[in-house]
Amino acid sequence: MPAPCKRFDVVPPYLFAEVARAKREAIARGIDVIDLGIGDPDIPTPQPIIDALCKSANEPKTHRYDESARGWVPFLEAASEWYSKTFGVKTDPAFDICQVIGSKEGLSHLAWAYIDQGDVSIVPNPGYTVYRVNTLMAGGEVYETPLREENGYLPILQDIPRDVARRAKLFYVCYPHNPTAGVATIEFYRDAVKFCRDHDILLVNDMAYATVTYDGFKHPTALQVEGGKDVAIEFHSLSKMFNMTGWRLGFAIGNPDAVANLQRLKSNIDSKQFPAIAEAGAVALRTVDNSSTMEIYQKRRDYLCDGLREIGWDVPKPKATLFVWAKVPRPDMTSSEFCAALIEKTGIVCVPGIGAGSEGEGYVRMSLTLLGDKAGERYAEAARRIKESGLVTALV
Ligand SMILES: Cc1ncc(COP(=O)(O)O)c(C=O)c1O
Repeated sequence: MPAPCKRFDVVPPYLFAEVARAKREAIARGIDVIDLGIGDPDIPTPQPIIDALCKSANEPKTHRYDESARGWVPFLEAASEWYSKTFGVKTDPAFDICQVIGSKEGLSHLAWAYIDQGDVSIVPNPGYTVYRVNTLMAGGEVYETPLREENGYLPILQDIPRDVARRAKLFYVCYPHNPTAGVATIEFYRDAVKFCRDHDILLVNDMAYATVTYDGFKHPTALQVEGGKDVAIEFHSLSKMFNMTGWRLGFAIGNPDAVANLQRLKSNIDSKQFPAIAEAGAVALRTVDNSSTMEIYQKRRDYLCDGLREIGWDVPKPKATLFVWAKVPRPDMTSSEFCAALIEKTGIVCVPGIGAGSEGEGYVRMSLTLLGDKAGERYAEAARRIKESGLVTALV
């Protein structure tokens, strides 16, 4: 059997082996595990979207390859309408939008469309590892911008060295941010657009959680900034917005040259998904309101954060995303050690911050998508168990 390519050497090892082992052992001991590790919506896809899929699946026109280059035309048009309604920005569905097989696919292939040996991608630390891994596999280098609590988890653009800015082709940003739940401001996007224009860099704005927001908060976008479309491409996803992670549907929107380059690469790799999925996605974007799902996440957030605050763990309430990002409440433990102790003593699974990059050390991520929770009762139970374990109160 031949060895796989050298490129795989950059794929990081599995960092959560210790947590996974402790989880397996807890299950074997018969413990009722509360798994706050996975950020995969537990609530089913809304029925009108499923009905639209069934209807489209019965139409022979969806049984063939999608022959339009950028994607299923009704989906592209619906994406353009949704973007205009949600963010107040007009786009041309024929040039500014491209369908992707989930935003992960688009974000990773963009690196393959732009990065040559010696080119740089600027990526967030902590951050979604896809930007980094694909840049490295494509032969490029990464420069990590630290995202710190004291800066609202925004990168400090002035700290990016000139040489890096000169060699950079892509600047990946992600807001609302996984894992920190940080959010961006329009001023940040204004600065980022100027930075990218000054240094001839493509701003890649990952907005997988754009509408997963609470307390009426509305997140801005890079395309709302004057000149944003000259330098930016955004990735939107139906996964978290409509509980459609398994459907694999999203879109890229923004600079038409960047969209065309992504599409050019993709047309040599994939032929998009089953057109009935895109047809159902168009129905989702045009008709489905996700507010009842957001209310459930918000209730869970409140049960968890309020419960943990009561026992002295100062956990910030996120304005957006599916995650609570909290400082490890034990100065004697790393994030991995704390997560292992948490499973051991409480049966609760969290993700150690180090898994998202070195700047994530000292934090843990807890997800709001617990399967089996109806209205926050399992989150109240999680807070109760943590209280009883003494793990937090012992040293705070
Ligand atoms: C920050 C971020 N971007 C992109 C994605 C990919 O989402 P999808 O490929 O389902 O659209 C995820 C998924 O968890 C994510 O957390």
